[in-house]
Amino acid sequence: MTDKPPVLVVEDDDALREFLVRALKVDGYAVQAAPDAASALGIAEGQEPAVLVAEVFLKGMNGVELVKQLRQRQVSTQVVLVARNIPTYTVVAAMKQGAFDFVEKPIDPDYFLLVVRRAVEHWRLTHENQALRRLSGLAAQDRDGMVAESPSMREVCKTIELVAPSDLTVLITGESGVGKELVANRLHALSRRQGKPFVAVNCGAIQETLLESELFGHVKGAFTGAHQDHQGLFEVADGGTLFLDEIGEMNLDLQVKLLRVLETSEFRRVGGTKLVKVDVRVVAATNKRLAEQVQAGRFREDLFYRLNVIHIEVPPLRERADDIPALVRAFLEAHHRKGLPRREVSPEALAALTAYPWPGNVRELRNIIERSLILCRGETILADDLPAALVRGAHTEAASRRSEPTYDLATPLAEVERRHILRVLGANGGNKVRTARVLGINVKTLYNKLKAYESAAGRVEGI
Ligand SMILES: Nc1ncnc2c1ncn2[C@@H]1O[C@H](COP(=O)(O)OP(=O)(O)OP(=O)(O)O)[C@@H](O)[C@H]1O
Ligand SMILES: [Mg+2]
Repeated sequence: MTDKPPVLVVEDDDALREFLVRALKVDGYAVQAAPDAASALGIAEGQEPAVLVAEVFLKGMNGVELVKQLRQRQVSTQVVLVARNIPTYTVVAAMKQGAFDFVEKPIDPDYFLLVVRRAVEHWRLTHENQALRRLSGLAAQDRDGMVAESPSMREVCKTIELVAPSDLTVLITGESGVGKELVANRLHALSRRQGKPFVAVNCGAIQETLLESELFGHVKGAFTGAHQDHQGLFEVADGGTLFLDEIGEMNLDLQVKLLRVLETSEFRRVGGTKLVKVDVRVVAATNKRLAEQVQAGRFREDLFYRLNVIHIEVPPLRERADDIPALVRAFLEAHHRKGLPRREVSPEALAALTAYPWPGNVRELRNIIERSLILCRGETILADDLPAALVRGAHTEAASRRSEPTYDLATPLAEVERRHILRVLGANGGNKVRTARVLGINVKTLYNKLKAYESAAGRVEGI
């Protein structure tokens, strides 16, 4: 953006408000000011500011409530709160509502301006992400394809390519954030249904009573509030793919109805009599163990077998660390494609990222990279730019499991060498020139060795 980023200041102390406005103007922002939260909200709704600077203890509506109201209106404005002696519970509450940061009074202007600068940068990223998503109709990453360097993910890709052209039902399982939706997207993109709708519905996010009419539609008068006929998602997805996310959350009654549709491709809208026929491929996903749910009587066995015709298990990221360097590169590249400066990751930072066990899987990795891009001052993301807990975590449990050499006294020297080379290569993001330098060998030798490993194993592992 070339225009001055808009900043709104809400402060009831006149002198301080004027001081902040002046400091922000000098720093290059288009500044507006308001003495109370109500008028600030009015301004924010008309012309969305990049950053809102607000006193926590405002009369009428406090800063935490203000953040909440902004989020409810889906405004992506970043909020920087200021106050004297802010109690911890207020900090926690405001952060939970999505405040960006806090600045203690008396305000140190340099620090204050630094926080605002970061908040603007964060807003810019969020904003551009949203715009991209709206433009493409897809999540930003979906256009970037799927990273699959590790043997297990290559296997997943092979299965996708194999089953995508058919109309078989697919069940995708895996922990939260491993990329289940991306797999579903790809199944659709590689099928003859590509070009027709891909409709995703999160069965856990929709109220039980509404899910049925969401899926199958309803006729006018079917229940209170049904003022007109309503098309369900099965009809919306006709000719395409319906992605039933968090299928484990669906109640038993609805499971019966879903099974019937899967078997006959026909259903009735809620309250309706006419049979509707559709051509929809169903892909379902869950992060629960459905077989255990079946045992516990929470999931119908017949539906389980019907969905489970093809099963794709997406492994957790900690079990496929070979994907991490490539994922990091893909996220940096996506950042660059948005028109932002090109950034790299230092070998130390990459080593920490590779060793961390990633409980939130790929989604967590993507968030950490985006966060570090905002925080890093130079052209390279350093270990210092990563959350301290991540670097610590990398040195503890995961490190003892993965970063330590996994060979014993019976291991042949050539094998020790192979594993060491692959680890260094991983830590250097696959950069062969840098890896050769670290290893003290020339690049040609490194190429030859890697080629030999690849043809011997048919895959690269152990990074
Ligand atoms: N292999 C991959 N390559 C590139 N990006 C990926 C990959 N796997 C996941 N992602 C990205 O990580 C994020 C999380 O993926 P996704 O939403 O598909 O996970 P999920 O398994 O559906 O998570 P949840 O269980 O929480 O719904 C997305 O932004 C996705 O684009
Ligand atoms: Mg998902």
